[in-house]
Amino acid sequence: TTYHIAVIKGDGIGPEIVTEAMKILHLAGEKFGFLCQFHEVLAGGCAIEATGQALPEETLEACLASDSVLLGAVGGPQWDTLPGEKRPERALLGLRSGLDLFTNLRPAYLQPALAHACPLKPEIVGEGMDILIVRELTGGIYFGKRGRTKVNGAPAAFDTECYSVPEIQRICRVAFESARKRRGHVTSVDKANVLESSRLWRTVFHEIAREYPDVTADDMFIDNAAMQLVHNPAQFDVIVTTNMFGDILSDEASMLTGSIGMLPSASLGATRLGMYEPVHGSAPDIAGKGLANPLATIASAAMMLRYSLDQPAAADAVDRAIAAALADGWRTADIADASTPEEKILSTVQMGEAV
Ligand code: NAI
Ligand code: MG
Repeated sequence: TTYHIAVIKGDGIGPEIVTEAMKILHLAGEKFGFLCQFHEVLAGGCAIEATGQALPEETLEACLASDSVLLGAVGGPQWDTLPGEKRPERALLGLRSGLDLFTNLRPAYLQPALAHACPLKPEIVGEGMDILIVRELTGGIYFGKRGRTKVNGAPAAFDTECYSVPEIQRICRVAFESARKRRGHVTSVDKANVLESSRLWRTVFHEIAREYPDVTADDMFIDNAAMQLVHNPAQFDVIVTTNMFGDILSDEASMLTGSIGMLPSASLGATRLGMYEPVHGSAPDIAGKGLANPLATIASAAMMLRYSLDQPAAADAVDRAIAAALADGWRTADIADASTPEEKILSTVQMGEAV
């Protein structure tokens, strides 16, 4: 099998971290019998320099023609003075909508070797934290009707949360399919005690749950979920929720895993085509110095193997290799601590080699 992968290295540390992830995908292919053909295209600040546009038409076309997209990060201080619609980060929105990526998967996994970096007490983390947050990405209050109005003569503003049944169905199916490949449990997070959109969400969630008798399902209110995440994170497997609740919960969960340099993400649509990128940005402060942690991007490549390329054994192997490198004590600077011996602190390239 040959997979066509559009590669957007982007700006700042983007080229450094993506290069390591490409090496890992290449090696995984050699080991598991497939070939990754990479097509490098431009987006972000480097695309503005080369073409005047953050997301050139040919980039979107190349992505649409691929099996999946690997992205580093975009943006940097040299473009911060541009108006909003001209900024490098616009490329991300253009890619998400252009590829119709309505699902955002953000695993929050605490590597056992990095348990010391978790701000929670060991007895609270217990058997560890391995949560997959499934966030709806193209609907809800971020896309609903909004505006300015007057209430009793005073200036006022409003936003609307609206979800259609098909929108809820498709994101819930993603959650249940994901749970099948994990520990078989889905928690839907809503505010059904107050919001009508949440009541519909909850009803549809349970209808979909009946299609997956092998997966257990329950609901939680968002306020309780925010508390439970720091009280007893080990109780969660897959969390499925709306665009806004998912935005907030995934940032909360990410802080429990130690470094932003560890966190992968996947954005998926109705087809196998997905976009895989680390959660962090282009880190201009450390760009070009070989200091960036490539593990978030390598873990994103593992998600690509799992969700877009249907190579679960290769995905597992990459995840195991990351855990093994960490268990052996190898660290990039962001995840090193006072007890890390100097010879175990690696550059971006060395960490890629360790994996
Ligand atoms: P950032 O995530 O780039 O950096 C935050 C801090 O974390 C910095 O101190 C950085 O050195 C560190 N860091 C980030 N990734 C790291 C890694 N792999 N290894 C080691 N340390 C790492 O966020 P910031 O500074 O707010 O944004 C920088 C630029 O990135 C901005 O132009 C921003 O708009 C853009 N950005 C792009 C995103 C994307 O492409 N998806 C997401 C977030 C920000
Ligand atoms: Mg956020």
